[in-house]
Amino acid sequence: MSEPKSKTSPMPVKRYGALLYRYLRPQWPKALLMSLLLLASIGLQLVVPQILRFFIDQAIAGGLLEVLLRAALLFFGVAFSNQLLAALATYFGADVGWTATNAMRADLTRHCLKLDMGFHNARTPGELIERIDGDVTALSNFFSQFVVRVLGGVLLLIGILVLLWLEHWLVGLILTIFVAIVSWILAYRREVAVPATHAEREANAKLFGFIEERLAGIEDIRANGGGVYTMRRFHGVMRQFFNSGLRAWLLRSTLWTFAIGLFGLGYVMTLGLGVYLFSLGAITLGTAYLFVQYMVMIETPLEQITQQMEELQKAAASIARVDELLRLNSKLPPGNSHRLKAGALAVSFERVSFAYDDKPVLDKVSFQLSPGQVLGLLGRTGSGKSTLTRLLFRLYDPSSGQVRLSGVDTRDADLALLRQHVGMVTQEVQLFHATVRDNLTFFDRSISDERIMAAFRQLGLDGWLERLPQGLDTMLLTGGGGLSGGEAQLLAFTRVFLKDPGLVILDEPSSRLDPATEALLERAVSKLLAGRTAIIIAHRLDTVRRADEIMIMSAGRVLEHGPRERLAQDPRSRFHRLLEVSHHPDADLSLQGELA
Ligand SMILES: Nc1ncnc2c1ncn2[C@@H]1O[C@H](COP(=O)(O)OP(=O)(O)OP(=O)(O)O)[C@@H](O)[C@H]1O
Ligand SMILES: [Mg+2]
Repeated sequence: MSEPKSKTSPMPVKRYGALLYRYLRPQWPKALLMSLLLLASIGLQLVVPQILRFFIDQAIAGGLLEVLLRAALLFFGVAFSNQLLAALATYFGADVGWTATNAMRADLTRHCLKLDMGFHNARTPGELIERIDGDVTALSNFFSQFVVRVLGGVLLLIGILVLLWLEHWLVGLILTIFVAIVSWILAYRREVAVPATHAEREANAKLFGFIEERLAGIEDIRANGGGVYTMRRFHGVMRQFFNSGLRAWLLRSTLWTFAIGLFGLGYVMTLGLGVYLFSLGAITLGTAYLFVQYMVMIETPLEQITQQMEELQKAAASIARVDELLRLNSKLPPGNSHRLKAGALAVSFERVSFAYDDKPVLDKVSFQLSPGQVLGLLGRTGSGKSTLTRLLFRLYDPSSGQVRLSGVDTRDADLALLRQHVGMVTQEVQLFHATVRDNLTFFDRSISDERIMAAFRQLGLDGWLERLPQGLDTMLLTGGGGLSGGEAQLLAFTRVFLKDPGLVILDEPSSRLDPATEALLERAVSKLLAGRTAIIIAHRLDTVRRADEIMIMSAGRVLEHGPRERLAQDPRSRFHRLLEVSHHPDADLSLQGELA
């Protein structure tokens, strides 16, 4: 699908060169060695027929047995070395190719991780895997074989032709013309056969799509008597597949047969020329044999070059996509290097508006939070609570207004450091298929087990850890399989505790936990919040009880904001009415009409 696109807008050759240069340069010693091996192997290939000619001419002239034996030994040595060199060149080619593509995979992954959330939200994981791994794998040939084969092929061809010219101008001239014509035909074959092959694949995909759809709907087809119609359509699709397949095959094989025929003609010509020149006494029998041998050798590089050109066409689409991905810039400019100071952070929103693409979510939100204060954030589902916290983390930038942490605009702060200073436990905790330890430290080996254990103890979770079969070495499954929602939350708390941030954001899960886990969480939260600024998105009154301030949001606006005590006592406040109607501490706040 993307191939025709790349045909209409071919990437300039300069970009291919730039990519090759970028990824091959760091390995230049290996690439140089590979080229030298290749050159040596080509040189040896050219020498082999010369030895044979010497042997034949010596034999005919009744040369000494010793000389003949030496020639035979030399022939053996050269042929063997040639194989060895070719094998080594292939080995280094694969090595260079893998190293280059791995570097490219790493670059693409790093690049994608730096891109903004808008980019990631718009793409499925499968698509990203295909972009990073699939496209790069398709390029491995481009890095490893392409240069070797094409360059090697061209050099070998040139070498053969030069030697033929040196032997006899007539043979040189005729075979040069022959090579030119065959090259042109092979290139033409590619142009003609490739679109036909595309059409064949498309018809094939259509056929399978048709079969799959009908099989899935077989009950409905039977029930509605659609069988006859379906069979007729099936025959139509089959006919299309047959016709395009036949056409592609005919084109491919006709042109192929033609090329083979041409080579046949080439042999006859060379042989004829050899006989003619020999009968004139212009060349020896050995030289006639030499001509034929070189003619045989012309075929392989010609085929290799055409095949590589086909591969390049396939790789072109991948190269274009890789290039496009590398040129994408994050919508989050890197910011300045402003550092936040350690300790509890002050938070301030100044008329902050934000929209996901063109869906407005926050509308001129303003509020302040002093260091060490705890803000309870309430609001109906979809009112923008989680979004507000994402801005603090700088997962997105506001479309207008300012978000400040301890007076520093988030856009001016060093992004990596900013994220070090803000800890977040989201509604759904992500766990990785790794040990408990790695899930807590994010694979940071500099965090010692003692520190982790101390964190568990301080959060009052050491009892829980002891019950795990292998303690910190217990493997977790992707998505937290094997752990309850509450246990996943506990791990997330420990993660944040280890990070020791100045601002903690807790996005309370809306599902309820069992009372025992709930009690554990309660204690852990108290420990976690000590000495830090916090924003707690609460779905239960119980959780709000620890808040110093309350803010109620509705449809991206602040409805009410003030100290919790005061709001609780003010009979006109929404918070007060909320407390009235929901006597049960477990009552789900986001379902209360008072929030609207
Ligand atoms: N990544 C996103 N892309 C586009 N729209 C989004 C995205 N995330 C949230 N929204 C939309 O933004 C609005 C606010 O969502 P947000 O998650 O901030 O609400 P919330 O107050 O946290 O709700 P809840 O209580 O259910 O967690 C919703 O209408 C939601 O559909
Ligand atoms: Mg939310």
